[in-house]
Amino acid sequence: MANVIKLHVNGGVQVVSTDPRASLLSVLRDQLDLTGTKYGCGEAQCGACTVLIDGHPRRSCITPVGTAAGRQITTIEGLEQHGKLHPVQEAFLTEEAMQCAYCTSGMIMTAVAFLKSNPSPTEEEIAHAMEGNICRCGTYPRIVAAIQRASHQGTQS
Ligand code: FES
Ligand code: FES
Repeated sequence: MANVIKLHVNGGVQVVSTDPRASLLSVLRDQLDLTGTKYGCGEAQCGACTVLIDGHPRRSCITPVGTAAGRQITTIEGLEQHGKLHPVQEAFLTEEAMQCAYCTSGMIMTAVAFLKSNPSPTEEEIAHAMEGNICRCGTYPRIVAAIQRASHQGTQS
């Protein structure tokens, strides 16, 4: 049964009519047209669908949209501020840390949250933090390099 649900997404308020058990991912993509968040496995195994909920990385494919009501949701589209990419986005571009880029938004969202909690990580800490995000193209070395680059530039914004 459809309910009216108020979502706080990327600093704005969105009202949707949907089954509260529907995945947050499906609502973001199909109702709010925020298609930067990707469907990979649908089973919380790959990280392609990662968004931030109250600043924490969450797998939107298994998050019932009803549980996200009233919480701050950030998607890849919400990272850019005033026409300026987030330092992690810039670092991924500079390091060319993508091939097909299907995993990239999930990688970036995970990295943004990680660098908030650990602004100066070692390479090993980065690899450990990112191990739940799968890149089928195998660009892991460049992803780690991008996160290191972003950490050196500061990601407090
Ligand atoms: S699509 Fe959500 S973890 Fe893979
Ligand atoms: S760049 Fe293709 S899956 Fe990561």
